[in-house]
Amino acid sequence: MTLAVGVLLSGSGSNLQALIDRMESGVLDVTIRTVISNVPGVGGLQRAAKHGIPAHVLPHQDAPDRESYDRRLIRILRDSGVQAVVLAGFMRLVGPELLAAFPGHVLNIHPALLPSFPGLRAQEQAAAHGVRLAGCTVHFVDEEVDHGPIIIQAAVPALPGEGAKALGMRILALEHRIFPQALQWLSQERKGPTGNALPTCLVFPPLEEGF
Ligand code: GRF
Repeated sequence: MTLAVGVLLSGSGSNLQALIDRMESGVLDVTIRTVISNVPGVGGLQRAAKHGIPAHVLPHQDAPDRESYDRRLIRILRDSGVQAVVLAGFMRLVGPELLAAFPGHVLNIHPALLPSFPGLRAQEQAAAHGVRLAGCTVHFVDEEVDHGPIIIQAAVPALPGEGAKALGMRILALEHRIFPQALQWLSQERKGPTGNALPTCLVFPPLEEGF
């Protein structure tokens, strides 16, 4: 059955767009009932409007504390008939009440291979650390920042000297592929592929002859 989702965001909404595109191409069996932004005027709200998705602006500064903010979110999500909540660049922690309202049905996307580089500017953290493989993670949300059971990850080579921006663009392109996939698994009540052959191991830079 088609899964009814609510998308929370704070920015440009390219991940929201990736979900919409997969819905429109017929592979992602979800319906987006509402988009909620804590920041007014962001691109994600424009994308929602363009696709006729009801959108709400809920500035967190208007709530006296995190609990009351989350209660406002829950009210909108419930009134919209949402079954699952998708954090698509939502720059806020969600609290226990919201998690309890949608148990096992809150997903987040993070632009790093968790548990490495949680928190802000993960791509910059990865580039500054000089990692050779970077990537992104979709996970179930718990009460910690960028933490919770991992559903899917994708890796990209991190090229020496390329800088966080270029790396971040390549990570983002993969975010747009794994987020809809994870959500499709959730809509099918699946945790991941079953019985598929695993791809061969990825080592970057490649090993030299004899190693
Ligand atoms: C993405 O990099 C996502 O991983 C992070 O916030 C960013 C949101 O980008 N949580 P967009 O608004 O979907 O373009």
